[in-house]
Amino acid sequence: MSVEDYQWPDFDFKLNSFNSTPKTSASAQDMLHKIEDFYSQKFNTPAYLFPSARAGLSAIFRFKNISRQHTLFAPKWSSHCVWDVISRYANPTSVHYPNIDLALVVHKWGYQFQTTLQDPSKIIHDSVDSIFTSYQLSLPSAEFEVLSLPKILGTFCGGIVFSKNKSFDQFMLQLRQNSSLGLATFQEKHKLDELKQTQIITTWQADEWRNFLLTEVALSNIESNLENNKRGVEVATKRLEIVSKKLNIDYLSIGSERLPCNIPLEVSRHHFKKPEMLIKRQFNFSFKNEMDSFLPAYLLPIHIGISEERFQAMLRAIA
Ligand SMILES: Cc1ncc(COP(=O)(O)O)c(C=O)c1O
Repeated sequence: MSVEDYQWPDFDFKLNSFNSTPKTSASAQDMLHKIEDFYSQKFNTPAYLFPSARAGLSAIFRFKNISRQHTLFAPKWSSHCVWDVISRYANPTSVHYPNIDLALVVHKWGYQFQTTLQDPSKIIHDSVDSIFTSYQLSLPSAEFEVLSLPKILGTFCGGIVFSKNKSFDQFMLQLRQNSSLGLATFQEKHKLDELKQTQIITTWQADEWRNFLLTEVALSNIESNLENNKRGVEVATKRLEIVSKKLNIDYLSIGSERLPCNIPLEVSRHHFKKPEMLIKRQFNFSFKNEMDSFLPAYLLPIHIGISEERFQAMLRAIA
């Protein structure tokens, strides 16, 4: 039996995130502002809340009038949801060329990647699962940066877009006015059904690119789990220290501004006693966004979605 995908907090963790009750009985608008203020203040940059990171990317593409005449780069091995949202608007490519119209710089699992692109208007920093320690974004080398809250807080939805572009503020007002709360309700119901595993087919994925609102259910789930941000940093810091003592991971470039959620252990550099406990993925060990230098790696997760016992057991499976 293959082990389930643990790159980010899993279904059970997200369901348990409902157990923490919202601290206020605030209105949807108040909760939206509270969540956006939380991120704006931490990162000292205007933050916009979306139902997911892909919905945020979709809004950025609309704002930039991206259409089928444009070609957008994302690194090889990017998740399906990345290709899905790009393909709704433009031509996707994982082969980089000099005059590309727009590129996602994916800071995979929280590792900072360098880009050869110079023009900020052509770059979106994708920091969906970075565990920020000093709240330093990769802006201003780009116009936009995105986070995904299920990956960081373990909530059942939520995405943040950061931008200092004042016109984006106006654009957001209009986008929210023209968006359907009915669609948001439908999407959240299906996401919850998927979490509770009452519905196996993930129908919500197909419509997420055009969903721009959150209902009170999602907002209060996010609001009541904001403190997971701090816990995530504490847990990852402690686990990274433990891993660094046991294994030589000097070949990984880990900066002081953000921590990874997973440690990709290059297959040829370590001895895996029980590989069946770990998932294997491709990782670009060059830390250069546009370079195709992927190698297989077993993932050691250090995020809050993994219990201490499981983390220790996984660590024991590696020599
Ligand atoms: C690199 C990357 N960017 C964006 C996303 C989209 O995140 P969300 O699930 O919040 O839409 C994903 C999802 O897995 C991802 O892997």
